Amino acid sequence: GRLWLVVPAAGQGRRMGADRPKQYLPLAGRPVLACTLARLHEAFPEARLCLCLDAEDGHFDPAWVPFADWRRAPGGAERVDSVVNALEAIAPEAEEDDLVLVHDVARPCVTVDDLRRLLAAIADDPVGGLLAAPVADTMKRDDGAGRVRATESREGLWHAYTPQGFRHGLLCRALNDALARGVAVTDEASAVEAVGLSPRLVGGRRDNLKITHPEDLALAELVLSAQAL
Ligand code: C5P
Repeated sequence: GRLWLVVPAAGQGRRMGADRPKQYLPLAGRPVLACTLARLHEAFPEARLCLCLDAEDGHFDPAWVPFADWRRAPGGAERVDSVVNALEAIAPEAEEDDLVLVHDVARPCVTVDDLRRLLAAIADDPVGGLLAAPVADTMKRDDGAGRVRATESREGLWHAYTPQGFRHGLLCRALNDALARGVAVTDEASAVEAVGLSPRLVGGRRDNLKITHPEDLALAELVLSAQAL
């Protein structure tokens, strides 16, 4: 089957408090979106890309897309709606069994090695999987008033990153099913879990951070320059 990349890039990134969506802030000399697409292209130059962009987006420049074969899909109200729009946009061309890797535009530090290891790990997997890393910090649950109610065991807990990769047919069914049933879906894996399947956890680098808060941009710069050494 063929490989599809879906990149949701239709968020407003309000937690950044910047004058434009975070995917258009400069990182290592170019917009975050250009950095992320460059990494994906380095790993999978032959893949087909679907980019979710807000209809009102006034910042996007197609010169930042290195893929020969790409199309855009309209953004939705939430991340999951944007991803569903992308899956619909590629549906006329995609086969049921084609693998789709969904990767947040806000994760520009994912390495080529992790991208290829994820693909290798799920290529023959009946369910699919995601990059993830074991939780390192001690986990506290609050009492709703700023004090600790309990310490939760971190045994067996993982941080879920992207990309997350599943077959086109399964992912469409799982996401539409989750939306129809009102299941909260913050990543693709949670929708697949909700239909009773267990995605594979593929251990990835901990520097695959998601740019969310203002200080994350400086961290991502450091990560990219350290990775280049
Ligand atoms: O805001 P957050 O970092 O959780 O968003 C994760 C990803 O989903 C980002 O790449 C963002 O651009 C994308 N997104 C989207 N459509 C939305 C909301 C978020 O494509 N409605």
